[in-house]
Amino acid sequence: MSNESISSTLQEHRLFAPPRAADLGFSAWHVASMAEYRALHERSVREPDSFWAEEASNVSWFGPWDRVLEWRAPDAKWFVGGRLNACYNCVDRHVQSGHGDETAIVWEGEPMGPKTSHPVPGSAYAAEPEIRRLSYRDLQIQTSKLGNALKALGVKKGDVVTIYMPMVPELAVAMLACARIGAAHSVIFGGFAPHAISERAQDAHSRVIITSDGGFRRGEVVPLQTNVEEAVDQLNNLGHIINHVVVLKRTAHVLPSQRFVSGAMRNGSTRFHWWHDVVSRASDACPCEAMESEDMLFLLYTSGSTGKPKGILHTTAGYLVYAQMTARLTFNLIPDAGQLFWCSADIGWITGHSYVLYGVLMNRVPTLMFEGAPNAPRNDRFWDIIARHRVTQFYTAPTAIRTFMKWGDEHPAGHDLSSLRLIGTVGEPINPEAWMWYHKHIGRERCPIVDTYWQTETGGHVVTPLPGAVATKPGSCTVPMLGIDAAIVNEGGEELPANKGGLFCIKKPWPGMLRGVYGNRERFISNYWSRLKDPRTGEPWYFSADGARRDEDGYFWVQGRIDDVIKVSGHLLGTMEVESALVSHPAVAEAAVVGMPHEIKGSAICAFVTLRPAWLINNKREPDDALKKELAAHVAGEVGALARPDQVRFADGLPKTRSGKIMRRLLRDVAAGVEKITQDTSTLEDFSVISKLRADEE
Ligand code: WT7
Repeated sequence: MSNESISSTLQEHRLFAPPRAADLGFSAWHVASMAEYRALHERSVREPDSFWAEEASNVSWFGPWDRVLEWRAPDAKWFVGGRLNACYNCVDRHVQSGHGDETAIVWEGEPMGPKTSHPVPGSAYAAEPEIRRLSYRDLQIQTSKLGNALKALGVKKGDVVTIYMPMVPELAVAMLACARIGAAHSVIFGGFAPHAISERAQDAHSRVIITSDGGFRRGEVVPLQTNVEEAVDQLNNLGHIINHVVVLKRTAHVLPSQRFVSGAMRNGSTRFHWWHDVVSRASDACPCEAMESEDMLFLLYTSGSTGKPKGILHTTAGYLVYAQMTARLTFNLIPDAGQLFWCSADIGWITGHSYVLYGVLMNRVPTLMFEGAPNAPRNDRFWDIIARHRVTQFYTAPTAIRTFMKWGDEHPAGHDLSSLRLIGTVGEPINPEAWMWYHKHIGRERCPIVDTYWQTETGGHVVTPLPGAVATKPGSCTVPMLGIDAAIVNEGGEELPANKGGLFCIKKPWPGMLRGVYGNRERFISNYWSRLKDPRTGEPWYFSADGARRDEDGYFWVQGRIDDVIKVSGHLLGTMEVESALVSHPAVAEAAVVGMPHEIKGSAICAFVTLRPAWLINNKREPDDALKKELAAHVAGEVGALARPDQVRFADGLPKTRSGKIMRRLLRDVAAGVEKITQDTSTLEDFSVISKLRADEE
């Protein structure tokens, strides 16, 4: 984060008291005052065993656990000895307790609006959007059928199933079906490119992929199946055989090319099946596997500071206990109270895992899933959805809020948002201006805002206001979640005084914490557990890689990542990942990627590239805008559209320190326009002068 935004948060003194539950239509707050929060938090950290034992009673167990926690830092085992199943907890137990016919998922498809306003693919658009409601019983039947179908394809307990799907109810069914039969899911965001799929499937030793022929996004069809086919071929060349691909038919009616005969073989090794074929043959009786507390529930890949994404490993009991508690407390979820919760994140991110799916279903509150983009067909689609479905809690990202601000106040103003009782944000620091806009135009100055700070690795919220208890300040994620012993420390592990910037750490284990980086113990330790430790006992503390400060009221203000990852529109991207994609293009000799401030995205990608002269000559090319565009498109094709650089800049050479390290700080300053560089021609940047001046600083 820039100095400017840090100083603007320092000047931020507005305080918004928690509203009264009744004024918003809540029957009560789960935590109703700051005094109650303080007492609960204090107890949760002082007596974690009894605190978490109580929380564990909100989960249904097939067999009781006998120890709350075994902690040999950094390895935690929670609820040791217990047996349970995640799908049972989200689905079957609600059916068994007489709620089978209640709505679990409300889904709305993207295609909507007059045909004429849509260039592609016209025939799919209707005046009314497609809406589906799935009850807990529907989910029980569908997860059973798909679970049996997966077993018939050879999927066994402990296997990892890769899922690459659009935001359709079958995505939720696929994840829960895996959980039902004891397989772990590894969901890959539908915006990623074939290489990202093959890289993740290979790392996870995954042999089965569930996908869809396509997905609707902003009026276009995203060719998911084609991407999987490409990934399967790449894997085949590496000797990693994908045995089966299950394909949901979603867009076949507008994309007739995506037809195949079910059971057809590709490359002589991978069989493709239609979802509806394998499921129609399967029985709807499929018992929920009794898993051990620490059995893997899922992998979710996230970017790190090396080129390769890390498979963050979450296990069954701890994740479920933490997801249900944080969802309940942060969003004040209450069953049978007319609530409809909507988290607009894609399920391909942890936000969707915990707060579209697991945390919400665990609490028996219906969850809304929307397939498409906020501007399809018009810029008011989200507000239209909230008004038509009477959404009560809404959760989105700062980058989305900044986009809505730009689109104009008239879009939310034209809709009845009176059903909203609470609104939230996640993914990156929210600037006070965007917070105030959200408060005024969406929350209508009534709804509390929960700014939730957490990570893929934490499983659920770790710093957030509890809406009935904690007064909010625009731009601050406020105070630690119950059970979270968070602090701002220096490199020596000493806690820093108020308003001193330092490193965000968590000193005690919590049930939702990651259990590992799949197949890479060394990365697990070095990324999270080696930088900070208790100066007295030497015990490692969890380090989130974020810089933050705590103000005089104990409120946290997250300043942003201090490692080589960038938050682009709230999505983490490793600079190395983008650099590897760039150097895989034959024109590129060397590349350095840095983040630069961006009004809407928070950060955008700026790539500095040196070219291969021989390639330019042989291909009769110039270092011009066309080549910049080609390189940007190459990155999008290798990683996914969200990694497409906003700027590609050609340089003579990259600025390096005496020891040969790229001077990233200098490049960041250049990208932000803080530092000017000379250009020897109109196209190539010359760092020689300033890099000499600054060589000692880096
Ligand atoms: C990183 C984690 C957590 C789900 C989505 C992102 C940043 C997240 C906030 C917030 C300031 C935030 C941090 C963190 N971040 N929420 N409320 N305020 N920063 O998960 O992709 O694992 O990213 O997102 O930098 O380390 P993720």
